Amino acid sequence: PVLRLNDVAALRAQVRAWRAAGEGVALVPTMGALHEGHLSLVRQAQAGSRRVVVSIFVNPTQFGPNEDFSRYPRVLEADLALLAEVGADAAFLPDVTTMYPPGFATTVTVAGLTEVLCGPFRPGHFAGVATVVTKLLLQGLPDRAIFGEKDFQQLQVIRRATRDLDIPVAIEGAPTLREPDGLALSSRNRYLSEEERRAAPAMYAALQRVAEAVRGGAETAPALAEGRTALEAAGFGPVQYLSVNDAESLAPLERVEGPARVLAAAYLGRTRLIDNVAV
Ligand code: PAJ
Repeated sequence: PVLRLNDVAALRAQVRAWRAAGEGVALVPTMGALHEGHLSLVRQAQAGSRRVVVSIFVNPTQFGPNEDFSRYPRVLEADLALLAEVGADAAFLPDVTTMYPPGFATTVTVAGLTEVLCGPFRPGHFAGVATVVTKLLLQGLPDRAIFGEKDFQQLQVIRRATRDLDIPVAIEGAPTLREPDGLALSSRNRYLSEEERRAAPAMYAALQRVAEAVRGGAETAPALAEGRTALEAAGFGPVQYLSVNDAESLAPLERVEGPARVLAAAYLGRTRLIDNVAV
């Protein structure tokens, strides 16, 4: 069975006990509705640390006023059963007042990285993410924390904030887990109708085509225009962005010279999907 830790004091006491026994600790932050993608992060955590804590907290500050906070899936008992199956040691389950006590007034904002890609479409989102992740890291002070490359911009924002604030936790990325047809696993895939689900893998296909086309250093613009047309033909719209960016600074690239990423965000019906691949 997975230990349930409901507040910061319980989390810290448990981590202290593990450390006293000479055991390393890794943290996997999530919002629950766990799927194999989340579980692959837990397995990566287990490969490098004796103890693994998974946090489950649907963080209100990272949702916009017209986003899906209230209908975000909340299935705690099913999540805990999956965590027991994979052998996670503990689940950290703070409530909203634990994370945001009355009078809460401090926000972590990361400049630059949050001004591109999803940033303009989701004002305040990355400040919400950076703030809650900073708190989780300081609350647990694990040796490592694991985040999926599925949310590539989020991973870079967290790396930056952790470095800038001297938080003594190693941030690790983990590869994106996909369905056999290429669709990246996501808690939001359950919103898709059957028809949308059939169209959804076109995003990964378009990303791969762009990556291949720009790999040798060709101009990115023509490949991106073609990719956008392919997304729209498959039924995506609006396409918020399809872009080739530097893998670290996330600056948009006219040509690829070093490590780069192709990233997209687009609606399929009412569901907003994001994905990215390495060039
Ligand atoms: P959530 O969407 O629940 O995702 C939790 C972690 O799982 C993130 O690091 C995300 O990148 C990773 N993940 C999601 N789908 C994945 C997939 N198909 N393959 C690999 N990893 C995947 O991301 C968040 O929650 C929140 O923003 C959080 C970081 C917890 C802060 O609230």
